[in-house]
Amino acid sequence: MTSGGDAPGMNAAIRGVVRSAVFNNLDVFGVYRGYDGLIEGDIVEMNVRSVARILGRGGTMLKSARSKDFMTKEGRRKALKQLRDLEIDALITIGGNGTFTGAHILHQESGFPVIGVPGTIDNDLYGTDFTIGFDTAVNTVIEAVDKIRDTAISHNRLFFVEVMGRDSGFIALHAGMASGAIAIMLPEVEMSIDELVTVLRKSEQTKKTSSIVIVAEGDANGGAFDVARKVNEQYDEFETRVTVLGHIQRGGVPSANDRVLAGRLGVAAVEGLLQRKADTMAGVINHQVVFTPLEEAITRKAELNADVTRMSRILSI
Ligand code: F6P
Repeated sequence: MTSGGDAPGMNAAIRGVVRSAVFNNLDVFGVYRGYDGLIEGDIVEMNVRSVARILGRGGTMLKSARSKDFMTKEGRRKALKQLRDLEIDALITIGGNGTFTGAHILHQESGFPVIGVPGTIDNDLYGTDFTIGFDTAVNTVIEAVDKIRDTAISHNRLFFVEVMGRDSGFIALHAGMASGAIAIMLPEVEMSIDELVTVLRKSEQTKKTSSIVIVAEGDANGGAFDVARKVNEQYDEFETRVTVLGHIQRGGVPSANDRVLAGRLGVAAVEGLLQRKADTMAGVINHQVVFTPLEEAITRKAELNADVTRMSRILSI
């Protein structure tokens, strides 16, 4: 099952689960539309061929939803009944924090074996170095910023580009670093408007004629429009423009890194269930597959690497 916001590589993860299940002589079913589909019994039997030609496709062939009904006890009771009626022994959920919270509660209430596969562009899950979809989303942002830079340079403009990530700054940090942003506004590391203006003035002294500021959507100063307005109140050397990248960051062909990660985690999830590692999330830490209790994965925060943050400042001078 895929649930929550879709992410590039979810299909590769579905393929990994299905192929690994078949390899281990298990029957495997796909649940459509996340927990909503589970509650309604929108479930089909799958086989090796059901996942042919999906490896390189964005989105999720099983569709996804942010289910309100599954947050209720009644919703979870109905979902459990569907699973038991089909004699399903375990559930693999591919998604993010909300998805795993639901899976963890289901397990706590009923003992039903669940295992999570981290699929979200936000990279905000504790228990894995990277989540499926993050690498592709960062590459999408870089491609867009490279294009925006052509206009910034041609017109001597200052651009504020807002990227996704909810309350995490992973996309902003990595995309900002990889696209040569002059400043990166992150929810985790406070940067006041005054500080940002100081950075911009300094860059002027080194004859910079255009700049890109990456603003994480969860930044404390507000979105990119707010930051641009506040900067303009005290700094108007450059004409400014704002671009909010939005959902283009969630779509597209998954990168090689995401496909490999998704394949590994899909296989790992099935193997984890066979080894009775229920109520955990399969992740990759330091290149090794690791199973983290769902409780920890949903309550602990994935921290930005402080050294990467420090170095991004050096690179942007
Ligand atoms: O969690 C993925 C994400 O794309 C976040 O980065 C963003 O804040 C949110 O989902 C947007 O959600 P929706 O697609 O429901 O508007």
